[in-house]
Amino acid sequence: MVKGKFITFEGCEGSGKSTQVKLLAEYLDRNKTDYVLTREPGGSPIAEQIRKIILDGSNTAMCDECEALLYAASRIQHIKEKVLPALEEGKIVLCDRYIDSSLAYQGYARGLGQEYVADINKKAYELCTPDLTVFFDITPDEAFRRKNGADLNDRMEKQGLEFHRRVYSGYRQLLNVYPRICAVECSGSKKEIHEKVVMLLKEKGIIN
Ligand code: TYD
Repeated sequence: MVKGKFITFEGCEGSGKSTQVKLLAEYLDRNKTDYVLTREPGGSPIAEQIRKIILDGSNTAMCDECEALLYAASRIQHIKEKVLPALEEGKIVLCDRYIDSSLAYQGYARGLGQEYVADINKKAYELCTPDLTVFFDITPDEAFRRKNGADLNDRMEKQGLEFHRRVYSGYRQLLNVYPRICAVECSGSKKEIHEKVVMLLKEKGIIN
């Protein structure tokens, strides 16, 4: 029986997602709440090895299906090895990216379609359906403006702005399909956005 809570975080490149996940983890530390912080792709030794292959900028010949299957492979390993055991112990699991990244990036932006991507991730999703997904809502245009020339290094970051616009529009469509996904508008300071996240988790009964 799964007793914990599985919270996933989504957003486009440069949305400030990882900073916000870290701020939330620090908040939970201060409040003595037991949690596990993890990320995708990766999060466990085998999954981290798969991550390296996926993000390696020299793997320019990787086809879209191979990319989607590698994300799915990394995911199921991570779920079975790390996420499920933590949930069974009653912990809160904070996961930086999960299946919605595959639906938005591979399903919408690469054009593989929702059915194909949902299909190859079916097992992971059945085993671990998020209790809440926080979507950091900022357009890639605005995110790139804020980043202001920061390095775009890995294979996914190197995709052009058009690709990231498709990712964003994919996320917007997912918001209409899955009630578990809640958008947090990313205007304001880091602290203000953090406060919105904490409020959301309280509203959803994840934390007191
Ligand atoms: P990462 O450096 O972790 O990016 P970020 O800080 O933006 O989360 O790299 C993960 C990259 O992989 C990111 O570009 C999003 C992409 N991705 C997918 O395309 N599909 C997926 O299923 C997942 C989990 C990530």
